[in-house]
Amino acid sequence: MAKTVSVNTFRFLPFTLLLLLPGLFRLSAAIYTPIREYSGDEFFSEWDYYGDIDNTTWGNVDYVDQSTGASQRLTYIDPNTNHAIIRVDNTTNITAAATVNRNSVKITTKDAYPIGSLVIIDTWHIPYGCSVWPSFWMLGTNLLWPNSGEIDIIEAINNLDSNQYALHTTSGCFLGTNSIQSGSILQTNCSTGAGCVVQEKKPNSFGSGFAQAGGGVFATQLDVSGIYMWFWPRGSLPASISQANSSSTMNLADWGTPTAAYLSNACNITQYFQPQQLIIDITLCGVWAGVPSIYNSTGCSGQCIDNVIGTGNPIYNNAYWDIAYIRTYLATATTTVTTGNTSVSPASLPSASPASASTSSSSGANDANANAAPAASTLVHSLSWSSWLCVLVLLGVLRFC
Ligand SMILES: *[C@@H]1O[C@H](CO)[C@@H](O)[C@H](O)[C@H]1NC(C)=O
Ligand SMILES: *[C@@H]1O[C@H](CO)[C@@H](O)[C@H](O)[C@H]1NC(C)=O
Ligand SMILES: *[C@@H]1O[C@H](CO)[C@@H](O)[C@H](O)[C@H]1NC(C)=O
Ligand SMILES: *[C@@H]1O[C@H](CO)[C@@H](O)[C@H](O)[C@H]1NC(C)=O
Ligand SMILES: *[C@@H]1O[C@H](CO)[C@@H](O)[C@H](O)[C@H]1NC(C)=O
Ligand SMILES: *[C@@H]1O[C@H](CO)[C@@H](O)[C@H](O)[C@H]1NC(C)=O
Ligand SMILES: *[C@@H]1O[C@H](CO)[C@@H](O)[C@H](O)[C@H]1NC(C)=O
Ligand SMILES: *[C@@H]1O[C@H](CO)[C@@H](O)[C@H](O)[C@H]1NC(C)=O
Repeated sequence: MAKTVSVNTFRFLPFTLLLLLPGLFRLSAAIYTPIREYSGDEFFSEWDYYGDIDNTTWGNVDYVDQSTGASQRLTYIDPNTNHAIIRVDNTTNITAAATVNRNSVKITTKDAYPIGSLVIIDTWHIPYGCSVWPSFWMLGTNLLWPNSGEIDIIEAINNLDSNQYALHTTSGCFLGTNSIQSGSILQTNCSTGAGCVVQEKKPNSFGSGFAQAGGGVFATQLDVSGIYMWFWPRGSLPASISQANSSSTMNLADWGTPTAAYLSNACNITQYFQPQQLIIDITLCGVWAGVPSIYNSTGCSGQCIDNVIGTGNPIYNNAYWDIAYIRTYLATATTTVTTGNTSVSPASLPSASPASASTSSSSGANDANANAAPAASTLVHSLSWSSWLCVLVLLGVLRFC
């Protein structure tokens, strides 16, 4: 049985922080309660398949529905590793035509995660190769894009070898310069087309290097004080992650410096971000990977579309995700995650096992949309402690730093 963190723990957390500063990384010292693990045989049951063309980034793909994904083995569980595989078709001989689309996958979680959430993905392989554009991201879907905010956790194209993190918002949200993050800032204005972009500096965060190093773990903390993202290659996972199982609480004390830190002093997180659904997809070409000048400056030559035409073999043999798990957490017993038609808080769960978080089998992404409002209103209650935590932490920094 997992231990469920009670709200009382958090009442004392700010004072604990004050005492321990500056020894602890100030923004990471929080305990999180597990909400759900997406893994193994149950992985695909908690997602909705897009089942349409790519009408947002205009890649040359048909996103399959669930039954096609299963029958064409574009989504399946590897029997040897128990990992989830999500991939692009690499056998169908596609002929040149006015519209050239290859089967691929885009899936969205039924659950939407509010401010106060933590998301950890352990992956051994991220799709790569010329024309390939994979993404693991979060999207608020209750309002028209980008009014509910978007958080891009894993995203790069073609033969790039570094991951890029980004936020997309309406106007007024920025990535301020700060000494907390280790990544390189590529863009600071989150309402531009590219969003506010931070590039990973650690080696092997994308492409063949990532795969050959055995992959790694990415984590995202969606907090009222900011949005933070970390990457660790397989060989240097923090013990809090390498030793955790699906029911472990998560303590961020050994996580170190995040690659990207979008602080609330330059972007009011509660203003720009609504509860977020997780999305995994792989598109081909499209408005980033397929732009000719970008395509030929990211390790590829010729025309992007020529990869899509033909059998896709061997070009798409590396266009697959291999995911050990995705785990989601909440910071307090007062925040809720919207699951299907029901809002759940950690305190109401008999244990933090994945199954107990779900009280309904949802029938579509719209269920989560419809319920984003209750989750957001519940959130208001949680802001009292979070705001205090924030204020006290800031005081602590002023006093000790
Ligand atoms: C994309 O297509 C889906 C399904 O037809 C539709 O619900 C959605 O609004 C479209 N999105 C955009 C951005 O056009
Ligand atoms: C794929 O289709 C094209 C056009 O029909 C054909 O020329 C080519 O030989 C086919 N390739 C394979 C491997 O069957
Ligand atoms: C940020 O980008 C938006 C969209 O391009 C633009 O309207 C706005 O003026 C920019 N803000 C600043 C401060 O550059
Ligand atoms: C997770 O680890 C804890 C502590 O080692 C153990 O008690 C628990 O049974 C494990 N849970 C699962 C689901 O493996
Ligand atoms: C941030 O946005 C929230 C929600 O819109 C608002 O209540 C709050 O006053 C804003 N905070 C600041 C510092 O502007
Ligand atoms: C890359 O594409 C751009 C735009 O199409 C073109 O001007 C440039 O010559 C190309 N460079 C190479 C190396 O092919
Ligand atoms: C297609 O790619 C997969 C990896 O996703 C690989 O295992 C398989 O051998 C490839 N198929 C062919 C026909 O090469
Ligand atoms: C969820 O809500 C939708 C729309 O109100 C409804 O059609 C559906 O039956 C509900 N599902 C469950 C499991 O209650």
